[in-house]
Amino acid sequence: MLYMLVSIKICLKGQPQWSEFFPDCGGSGQSPIDVDTSTAQYDPNLPPIKPLGYGQHGTEPFSLSNNGHTVVVSLPNWMGLAGLPYQFTAVQLHLHWGNGASIATGSEHTINGHSTPAELHIVHYNSELYENFSMAVTKRDGLAVLGVLMEVGEETNEGYGSIVNYLSRIRHAGQKAPIPAFDVQTLLPSDLHSYYRYNGSLTTPPCYQSVLWTVFAETVKISMPQLMKLDTVLYSTEEGSGQPSVLQDNFRATQPINQRPVFASFQRAGVKIYTKGEIAAIVIGCLCGCVGLAVVIRFVVKTIRSTSSWDVLPTVRPAPPSRSSSDS
Ligand SMILES: *[C@@H]1O[C@H](CO)[C@@H](O)[C@H](O)[C@H]1NC(C)=O
Ligand SMILES: *[C@@H]1O[C@H](CO)[C@@H](O)[C@H](O)[C@H]1NC(C)=O
Repeated sequence: MLYMLVSIKICLKGQPQWSEFFPDCGGSGQSPIDVDTSTAQYDPNLPPIKPLGYGQHGTEPFSLSNNGHTVVVSLPNWMGLAGLPYQFTAVQLHLHWGNGASIATGSEHTINGHSTPAELHIVHYNSELYENFSMAVTKRDGLAVLGVLMEVGEETNEGYGSIVNYLSRIRHAGQKAPIPAFDVQTLLPSDLHSYYRYNGSLTTPPCYQSVLWTVFAETVKISMPQLMKLDTVLYSTEEGSGQPSVLQDNFRATQPINQRPVFASFQRAGVKIYTKGEIAAIVIGCLCGCVGLAVVIRFVVKTIRSTSSWDVLPTVRPAPPSRSSSDS
């Protein structure tokens, strides 16, 4: 996730040098991480995430901006989250992405080593303990961020369209434009019960270790044209800059986990986690098997019945009346 920096240039390619200027970037509790689903600990006490007021966007436009590192939508302070250890108030959302040449990278978090092409972060501060974002951002329990891994699907995602359709208004670093307010909940996956939880940090300098992370297990899908807009429309440079540079690959490499626990709000289905496709195959396989078995049983029963009638019926048939007796 990105913290708004006014005067400091972050060179994303210079990630290993961040800690020379921002000591926290070299800390032992950094983000993003690779989530290893086989070692994540199931915690039955983790409740579903409850977005508060995400759908009540009102009529005032949202503000969309390009800060040179990402696209940011500022969020009204009546939006927040329940289902976390404290009350959290929404601040902003932003995205991370790759470079348009490949969809193999772009997300910050990875699951079992797999990246997705993009990731959404919705940033909140602990409004139960702190007066505002600035006060909370440096505190251990100051922030809560929702992470949503984004993949490519067939259909246009109208929710994400509310952001990517307006990127051309803020192509250059430092630009800002109003956009129609939209239902922020449409950016989330439908399953808010299943997520990974760990303590981590901001993913850009100053990398404060103040974030309680929630990374949803379910991904969302945007279309390929939508991803291409995200990957290619923005510049990290200001308008009129002599050397314009496209804003791409604004994700940080995964950081060492260093003994931090990662919790899962849901139980893994056995050792192997089946995909939806695999589950469908298993169900269809079972159904076909059952139908097949029923057909075989029916055939066998029918055969036995008809065989027995051929065998039995003639013997129980009354013997034809004897002609001789009737003649007599
Ligand atoms: C945040 O709250 C502190 C403490 O009340 C105050 O000094 C500071 O000006 C506030 N910052 C912003 C950005 O509102
Ligand atoms: C995060 O850190 C706090 C304070 O150190 C601790 O109480 C809490 O259990 C940790 N949460 C997770 C998910 O590890």
